[in-house]
Amino acid sequence: MTSYKEIYEGWRADPEAFWMRAAEAVDWIEKPTRALDDSAAPMYRWFSDGVCNTCYNAVDRHVERGRGDQPALIHDSPITGSKSVLTYAELKDKVARLAGAMTRAGIEKGDRVIVYMPMVPEAAIAMLACARIGAIHSVVFGGFAANELAVRLDDATPKAILAASCGIEPGRVVKYKPLIDAAIEQASHKPGLVVMLQRPQEEASLVEGRDAEWEAFQEGAEPADCVPVRGDDPLYILYTSGTTGQPKGVIRPNAGHMVALIWTMKNLYGVDPGEVFWAASDVGWVVGHSYIVYAPLLTGNTSILFEGKPVGTPDAGTFWRVISEHDVKALFTAPTAFRAIKREDPNGEFVRKYDLSGFRTLFLAGERADPATIEWAEAQLGVPVIDHWWQTETGWAIAGNPMGIEHMPVKLGSPTVAMPGYDIQILDDGGNPVAAGELGAIAVKLPLPPGCLPTLWNADERFLKSYLDTFPGYYETGDAGMMDEDGYVYIMARTDDVINVAGHRLSTGGMEEVLAGHPDVAECAVIGISDDLKGQLPLGLLCLNAGCNRPHDEIAKECVARVRQEIGPVAAFKLACVVDRLPKTRSGKILRGTMVKIADGEAYKMPATIDDPAILDEITQALSGIGYPAKA
Ligand code: COA
Ligand code: AMP
Repeated sequence: MTSYKEIYEGWRADPEAFWMRAAEAVDWIEKPTRALDDSAAPMYRWFSDGVCNTCYNAVDRHVERGRGDQPALIHDSPITGSKSVLTYAELKDKVARLAGAMTRAGIEKGDRVIVYMPMVPEAAIAMLACARIGAIHSVVFGGFAANELAVRLDDATPKAILAASCGIEPGRVVKYKPLIDAAIEQASHKPGLVVMLQRPQEEASLVEGRDAEWEAFQEGAEPADCVPVRGDDPLYILYTSGTTGQPKGVIRPNAGHMVALIWTMKNLYGVDPGEVFWAASDVGWVVGHSYIVYAPLLTGNTSILFEGKPVGTPDAGTFWRVISEHDVKALFTAPTAFRAIKREDPNGEFVRKYDLSGFRTLFLAGERADPATIEWAEAQLGVPVIDHWWQTETGWAIAGNPMGIEHMPVKLGSPTVAMPGYDIQILDDGGNPVAAGELGAIAVKLPLPPGCLPTLWNADERFLKSYLDTFPGYYETGDAGMMDEDGYVYIMARTDDVINVAGHRLSTGGMEEVLAGHPDVAECAVIGISDDLKGQLPLGLLCLNAGCNRPHDEIAKECVARVRQEIGPVAAFKLACVVDRLPKTRSGKILRGTMVKIADGEAYKMPATIDDPAILDEITQALSGIGYPAKA
């Protein structure tokens, strides 16, 4: 049997041959003559002269080869009390019909389409229908507010929005239509078409001439065939948080994405075609794109589309029910989900109610997997618990434990080793590699492998500045950490203003922009403090305008409401307090890291460059006024 080391070294010795071999798993319309295209370096492209179609590879070819009756998508929705199954043949019909209706409505290859949908099968159908006709989808997570949708409308300038009337959260129906109407009102770019899936929980009102009901829109439409696209044509744009309120539009190209994802299903996740794979995430995040929709379908697996929460829908046994009922072989979720389950069912009583004998592996990613959670999950489930590390930008794991190649020894706190394609280096401030075990910025030597972003949508300069400028010849991941002598990587912290709340990536800079817009706020800082359940939580410190004598808690409440209104409930911004001054260096840089340490109750060193040390006492007092550091 070939070892991880042999495979990784094989890639390193001849990346071109490695990826051309992996590309044989794709059905091409025209085969690429080469893997890497460096003609526009440092914006590298992969399989650019290949011609292909992602939808064909994810759907049609399985029907043609005898998987027509196999379930492709199982929608399991404890929150609505419903379940349904779509076979590959049914999925093909639905996707082709929607694609046909979109073509009839004038949507063509290269046009952008926003998908604003909760976890319903139509979300996957919408994505695949775009892929079928070469339209570029951009899925927007349902927990974002109208303003976030408006920003994406202006950046992606879509011809249409494919949406559902509502999402369902525990105890409330989230009406999407008012958010869509408000976003279109606010945006400069106005899409001419909104196609609305009416869910039984909420009937959205339609705007005459612009909006169409899902079924009526497709009535009489001819099914569309798969449109040939170039390997480097974008399949989708997915916006993710950066340092400011303006999200980054990560571009995912068609061919490299297929090649990389197919490689991971067997080699990293260890699943074979026909088996059931479940990524308990949301189609609005990269995990949902890669591992709810594309990867499992590209490899002929059955994918679970789960609409619910790990706890409360109806209880902490939901995950185990889904695994046993649908014979799930591998589950992929965020550590937060397991922390939530563990909190409600510490002794695993729910686990023992279900037959989990077919379940093989649990994969965790999206945020740091704390050892206690991994150990608990291992003890309860009796299967390997595998941490792996990646980002929206890469679309698949940078580091992981390649279960289909060999189960490497687990070192708690490490997402294991670099996947083929990634030459991970830990660099010091000057861009020089540091010794094993030393902390530094985590970078990946260029070129990034297939599937990773070639650039940002309409923003080449920002791409270079955000990722490539700091360390010439490397991609800067934005994470800091170290690598040990065995090549195991450890992800310790972000180096930028990104925080990770319940596995959701958020920008503190974006929240600061919203808070700064409050008429009484003169200056502010948002920091990510530690939280037992969600990993991190945002906390806002507000300095008010001179002469403002309104009650502080009233202003703090307004600020909380403002972030919910402008960014969305998913920001989970609930903590804010007023302070007289913010601690700064003499050059005026806010000392966010020191404030995080105070809020977390950790010892901190007085920063040598601090302007006025007394401010830290004021911060300590203000934080204690809102209950921080929290008692263990
Ligand atoms: N549409 C609208 N609102 C949404 C939403 C969506 N799709 N997803 C979340 N929200 C809302 C929630 O209702 C909540 O609102 P509230 O402030 O009114 O309570 C808020 O956004 C924060 O959501 P969340 O951070 O998810 O917290 P929660 O308390 O609802 O649930 C967990 C906690 C741990 C159960 C939940 O975070 C979870 O399942 N996490 C798994 C993480 C995950 O799947 N990450 C994806 C990356 S792999
Ligand atoms: P996202 O783009 O939303 O997938 O978020 C990516 C970021 O989440 C990474 O840059 C890390 O900061 C963090 N992250 C993802 N996976 C892990 C992991 N396994 N361990 C630690 N941090 C992680």
